[in-house]
Amino acid sequence: MDIFEAPPGGLHAEVASPEEIARFLAAAAVQAPSVHNTQPWRFHHGDGQFSITANNERQLRVADPQGREMMISCGAALFNVRVALRYLGFVPKVRVLPDPDLPNLVARVTWDQQVPALDYEKELFGQIGRRRTHRGGFDPVQLPDALLAALRGEAAREEATLGLLADDPLRARAVAAVVEAGDCALRLDSARAKEEARWAPGPDSHRQDGVLPTAYPAVPERTEPPFRSRDYAHGHGWGLPPGPEEPVVRSAGVVGLLTTSVDHTADWVHAGQALQRVLLVAATCNVAAALHSQPLEIPLLRDFIRLHLCGRAYPQMVLRLGTTDEKAVSVRRPVDEVLF
Ligand SMILES: Cc1cc2nc3c(=O)[nH]c(=O)nc-3n(C[C@H](O)[C@H](O)[C@H](O)COP(=O)(O)O)c2cc1C
Repeated sequence: MDIFEAPPGGLHAEVASPEEIARFLAAAAVQAPSVHNTQPWRFHHGDGQFSITANNERQLRVADPQGREMMISCGAALFNVRVALRYLGFVPKVRVLPDPDLPNLVARVTWDQQVPALDYEKELFGQIGRRRTHRGGFDPVQLPDALLAALRGEAAREEATLGLLADDPLRARAVAAVVEAGDCALRLDSARAKEEARWAPGPDSHRQDGVLPTAYPAVPERTEPPFRSRDYAHGHGWGLPPGPEEPVVRSAGVVGLLTTSVDHTADWVHAGQALQRVLLVAATCNVAAALHSQPLEIPLLRDFIRLHLCGRAYPQMVLRLGTTDEKAVSVRRPVDEVLF
């Protein structure tokens, strides 16, 4: 069953079996963003609960030795599970890192109470399969202040802070410079570059994970300030062909820093939930996001950002928000591979 092709309301919570509900939740969870589309998760169900476990066979050993990005990815999947439960009219009860003896067990989710989903929750659910990471510039359109304030509020509801630099071009430029430094450092480090290349297969690949050439432009788009994208094509010229118009410098959009005040595993899971909450709410307003974690994978640069660009809070994600017609195509492993 692919819930994203089924008409809304195709699954009726009152008559659905526990197995059907679990598949529904897993199908929503796998649509979450994950670093390099590693999809580093496993889901288990039974006894009226659904759990998310980080699959550290899919962890980036070089770029993410602590598993921070893996946990952010799992946190984003957890947020999708919560939204899917609300869509079905259940009230999710979540325990993050419920068992100290099982450090990879990200969360256990149960539900016993029923409250009909609000329209707003249904709308969020509708974005789960539509949202895609953007890799390029944005239209020269200002995002309304009210939307930016709302997005800040959404992050705060998940114990994270979203700093948006719409009115701070100097700081936005500094963030762009650190992203560039991070990307350069990454390209010069052969172990990092090889690891990234392993998760960026070519156009003939039938893989259902990794960042495929359908997800990024063949010619990197120039933005102002200049934000550098990861080199997923690693010199092969892969990627989506440019449009017919002359290459132009496009807007970088509104630059954001998602931070947490502490930097423990639970904070990474919160950051993942906050990220996905912000992305889905933005998507309801046709606002897309580009993500840049290159500098956050390099401890010195992450520290630099923390000390100089986000008031000593711990940066968990650098992002840009804006509108665009372009839509990347991404892949996912089927539910049968990840649900036990
Ligand atoms: C922790 C994390 C770090 C990420 N870092 C980057 C990044 O540096 N550059 C990028 O283009 N996308 C980044 N992404 C986005 C993933 O590549 C993307 O989610 C994945 O390829 C799946 O595609 P989708 O988001 O379009 O569904 C990141 C996502 C997460 C969760």
